Amino acid sequence: MSASGREVVLGVGAGIAAYKACDVVRRLQDHGFLVTVVPTPSSLNFVGAATWEALSGREVATQVWENIPGVAHVRLAQEADFILIAPATADLISRLAQGRADDLLTNVVLASGAPIMVVPAMHPHMWTNPGTMENVQMLRSRGFTILDPDIGRLTGPDVGVGRFPDTARIIENFEGMVGTTADLLGRKILITAGGTREPIDAVRYIGNRSSGKQGFAIAQAAFARGADVELIAANCPDLEIEGVHITRVETTQEMQTVLEARFDLCDILVMCAAVADAKPAYVHEGKLSKEEYTSISLIKNPDLLAEMSSRRREGQVLVGFAAETQDHLESARAKMERKGVDILYVNDVTGGAIFGSDITSGTILTRSGGKMEVNDAAKDTLADVLLDHVLFQLG
Ligand code: PMT
Repeated sequence: MSASGREVVLGVGAGIAAYKACDVVRRLQDHGFLVTVVPTPSSLNFVGAATWEALSGREVATQVWENIPGVAHVRLAQEADFILIAPATADLISRLAQGRADDLLTNVVLASGAPIMVVPAMHPHMWTNPGTMENVQMLRSRGFTILDPDIGRLTGPDVGVGRFPDTARIIENFEGMVGTTADLLGRKILITAGGTREPIDAVRYIGNRSSGKQGFAIAQAAFARGADVELIAANCPDLEIEGVHITRVETTQEMQTVLEARFDLCDILVMCAAVADAKPAYVHEGKLSKEEYTSISLIKNPDLLAEMSSRRREGQVLVGFAAETQDHLESARAKMERKGVDILYVNDVTGGAIFGSDITSGTILTRSGGKMEVNDAAKDTLADVLLDHVLFQLG
C-alpha cells in the first residue's frame, strides 16, 4: 500500500486497443491517481515504452530481468493500491487464470494483494470461445473485476462483442471498484497541520503537543478524493504524501506568510494546526543563562484564521478546529462566530488528549446550527467526515 493510497499499476496487453489506454492513463491522472504502466513485452508492438514513460512520467519495464536489484515485481506489487489491466487479450486472461509469471505484469499480479480490474478487448469469436469464458469465470471467482467488453465495430470489418469500452466507462467502473469518488476533483484545498513554535532564545521555544497527524490525515483524504492539496506543516515529522505539496514552517509568522500567499487561490481552508497565541516580545540571540531565564514577556500573535476569514471571497469554505478543556460547545460556538468559519471541530484536549493519538473524539459544528458527535474515530475517518461536510457547504 502506498502513502497516497492512489497508486495504480496499469497493465497493458498486446491488443490494438493499447493505443486507447493512453487516454486511460491521462484520465486516471486527472482523477488523482498516480500511474505506473507495465506493458506486456508484445504490447510494445502497438505502443512503445517511450509513450508510456512520457505519459506517466515514470520508468517502464516489461520483464523481471530489468533492474534486478530493484526487484521491480515485488516493489510494484507492494506499492500498488489497485491494478487495472486494459486492454487484456485472450492470451493475457489465460495466463492470469493459470497463475503464470512469465513477464513483469503477471509477476506483479501474483505478488500483489491489491484489487484488480481487467478490461478485455478482442475479436468476438475469441471472447465467446469457451476457453476464454472459462478463464474469465475463474478470474471472477477469485475476486477479479472483469468489465464486459462493448459491442461494436472491431479492427477490420467485423462487428460484435469484444470492443474496448470508452475511457469514461472504464474510469467509472474503476472508481466504483476503488470505492472512492473524486468528489473534490478540481478543488484546491489548503490545510495547516502541526503546531507553531515561537523561539525564546537560540535553543528554547514556546510550542505545543500537536503531532500533525490530523492535518496529514485530512491532506491524504482530500488527495484521495481528487483535490489539489497544499499542506502547510508546522514542526511535523518529515513525512511526504505523494501528490501533495508540503511547505514546512516553524513559527506563526512563517505560517501567516504562506497562508497569505496561498489563501486567495484555494476553495477550502482547513486550519487544523495548533497556532501559538503569543510569542516572546524579544528573541535572545544566544542562549539565555540560568540567571537570565526567569520571566518572558509575551506579545499576541495574529489570529490567522480570523484574518483569512476577513478576506474570504464568496464560495470559499473555511474549516476551523478548537482545542478546549472546559465549556467545549459554548466556547466553540463563540469561536466559530468570532473567527467566521463554516465548520468547526471541537475536541476536548484535557490532559493532552487527542494530541499525537491516532484516534479522536469531538463534535462537528456547522454555522447553520448542525451538530455531529464523533466518538473514538480514527483521524482518517474524521478527515473524510469533515470533507463530506465541506462538500455539502460547497453545494
Ligand atoms: O496534530 P495532532 O497531534 O493530530 O492533534 C490534533 C489537534 C489536537 C492539534 C487538533 O485536533 C486541534 O484541535 N487543532 C486546533 C488546535 C488549536 O489551536 O485550537 P484553538 O482553539 O487554539 O484555535 C482555534 C482555531 O483557530 C484553530 O483552527 C487554529 O488553527 C486557529 N488559530 C488559533 C490561534 C491563532 N493565533 N491563529 C489561528 O488561526
